[in-house]
Amino acid sequence: MSNCKELQFKLSNDKELKVHIKEVYETQYSNYVWPSALVLCDFICKNHDQFQSKTVIELGSGTGICAIVAAKIGAKCYLTDKVGYQELSKENLHLNRIEDAEVFPLEWGSMIDSFPKIDYIIGSDCFYDETDFENLLFTVSLLLDNSIDPKEAKFFTTYQLRSSTYSIECLARKWNLKCSLIPFSHTNVNNQVIELYEMKKESF
Ligand SMILES: C[S@@+](CC[C@H](N)C(=O)[O-])C[C@H]1O[C@@H](n2cnc3c(N)ncnc32)[C@H](O)[C@@H]1O
Repeated sequence: MSNCKELQFKLSNDKELKVHIKEVYETQYSNYVWPSALVLCDFICKNHDQFQSKTVIELGSGTGICAIVAAKIGAKCYLTDKVGYQELSKENLHLNRIEDAEVFPLEWGSMIDSFPKIDYIIGSDCFYDETDFENLLFTVSLLLDNSIDPKEAKFFTTYQLRSSTYSIECLARKWNLKCSLIPFSHTNVNNQVIELYEMKKESF
């Protein structure tokens, strides 16, 4: 079973941005819009000037909602997820009439032969399985090192607090990443606490 949702976000100039997202009711995590995605979309919209004309890669894109929002405000977007998880994001790009975005598999922790040079990485609710955290940060680190401007490149990620025992800030340091919590008013969706972080390379 599937459903198509219309979602609305407000840009910093108060204009509204609408997207249509299909979800599929199966157990696979990639088939739903997670609460963290709504917070990241909201952040992108509230900072839409910063994302306009930038090259953005989304990790663990699932339905593709965050990259679709970024593409709608004028970013060139690459949507990535595990091998075989590309169909739904392709359908959603089509549904939103976005033609210049690209979709390809990218498994965290794997070596990437050729990848696009980007300004920003985005990823919502990617930190949920502790065994994957190192792999994810490896991929983030690699993409930032090979970005358009490694001093300015950033990873924006939303993190749903599910365990109080884990600190992604400590782990990020191991990968030479400076991790800062972005104070953002919209941190509570469906009674979930969702934090927004920015990560960038600490030193070069
Ligand atoms: C909780 S879902 C979040 C989906 C979407 N970002 C959202 O917030 O709606 C986590 C996503 O990460 C992807 N993912 C998990 N492990 C991965 C890995 N090792 N490599 C690439 N993607 C992965 C999943 O397939 C899924 O799409």
